[in-house]
Amino acid sequence: MGVSLLSWVKPKRHLLGLDIGKSAIKVIQLASTRQGLVLKYAGLTELPPADRDEREGQDRDAPLSLHDVFKETRLKRQKIAINFSGRSPVIRYLLLPKMPKDELGEAVRWEAKKLIPFPMEDSVLDYLIVGETQERDLQRMEVLVVAAERSAVLNQLESFKRINLPITAMDVNPLALFNTLKLNYKSDLDENLVFVDIGAGKMDINISKRGVLRFTRNVQLGGDEITQAVMRGLGVEREEAEQLKRQKGLSGSASGGPAPEGPPGQANPPKADQDGRLYETIKAEADRMILETQRSMDYYRAQFREGSVKKIVLMGGACLMPGFQEYFASYFDANVELDDPFAEILCDEKEFGEIRLMAPRFSTAVGLALREPDA
Ligand SMILES: Nc1ncnc2c1ncn2[C@@H]1O[C@H](COP(=O)(O)OP(=O)(O)OP(=O)(O)O)[C@@H](O)[C@H]1O
Ligand SMILES: [Mg+2]
Repeated sequence: MGVSLLSWVKPKRHLLGLDIGKSAIKVIQLASTRQGLVLKYAGLTELPPADRDEREGQDRDAPLSLHDVFKETRLKRQKIAINFSGRSPVIRYLLLPKMPKDELGEAVRWEAKKLIPFPMEDSVLDYLIVGETQERDLQRMEVLVVAAERSAVLNQLESFKRINLPITAMDVNPLALFNTLKLNYKSDLDENLVFVDIGAGKMDINISKRGVLRFTRNVQLGGDEITQAVMRGLGVEREEAEQLKRQKGLSGSASGGPAPEGPPGQANPPKADQDGRLYETIKAEADRMILETQRSMDYYRAQFREGSVKKIVLMGGACLMPGFQEYFASYFDANVELDDPFAEILCDEKEFGEIRLMAPRFSTAVGLALREPDA
């Protein structure tokens, strides 16, 4: 009795959300209070690009930079939730005939055998009943299955153990993002809701309906591809390409804006020429991202016999590029919004003002940090 009263008054700390992305480590700590969720800590440590390239195509180990992140005394001895950073875990929505729970495990394993590209005995398999449907007199269970290669999971956990970080939960990126979405988009959850996370090295395209994640697809295409395209297209170094992307992005136009006054017939000066090339180069990459999103939506609509999508939520750092949201939106009938994972969280503006400027980079970390410790 005393304990439950106290837990009502005392802020209840959540697990520390730790998102190790391709470009940066992001850490979030939340607490539940009587006023609601409060942001206690937010941190972002960029990873050097050289380090990133070395890790390309490999399962990511806990980088050395984690040592620096966890020097922060406030973070010591906190229980942590991380995202699985191995290559593409399998996440599938299944519709199975209604059956007793003790038979479900076997049925899921049977179905999973057909879905996962590695042997069952080498995988970690988890599933969750997420809902039930009724079509005429046929009752079915909606089940979400997640599978990953056992060695990848163990390697990741082992690398954290070596540096004494107490990992108590591991999640896959789409489900962490979905946690954040459920907090911010309560009134849209009944409908088809598309949320796309475009990070440095990949995009996760996800679709939910009735509060259930039904579709997810991972595409190896992200903000780093844009930077590399600018390097090639304009013949500039990585740093300059990154700067051009972040400062100009898609905010210009194909011609690089109105040509300055000059004698008729004279070509635009090189500056406008460069702006035009920058725009065309970035546009080509953005078009690929739009195409992948469109394809996923088409597939989902056909597979689930679904109609329109009213909203698309953009997450991840690549979406911060100037003009990107507007450009993306011009291709879809749906409303395209930029995620603010802190929208329903009380944040001290003075302490976290800068973090909020790059809020969509924290969609995953916030989703991980929403977990409460079991005990
Ligand atoms: N203001 C900005 N404008 C344009 N691009 C940006 C901006 N800020 C960050 N980016 C880009 O966003 C990417 C990083 O985003 P994010 O932190 O979401 O990725 P990540 O989680 O590290 O990567 P991944 O999810 O692929 O593992 C980088 O490619 C970076 O260049
Ligand atoms: Mg990410």
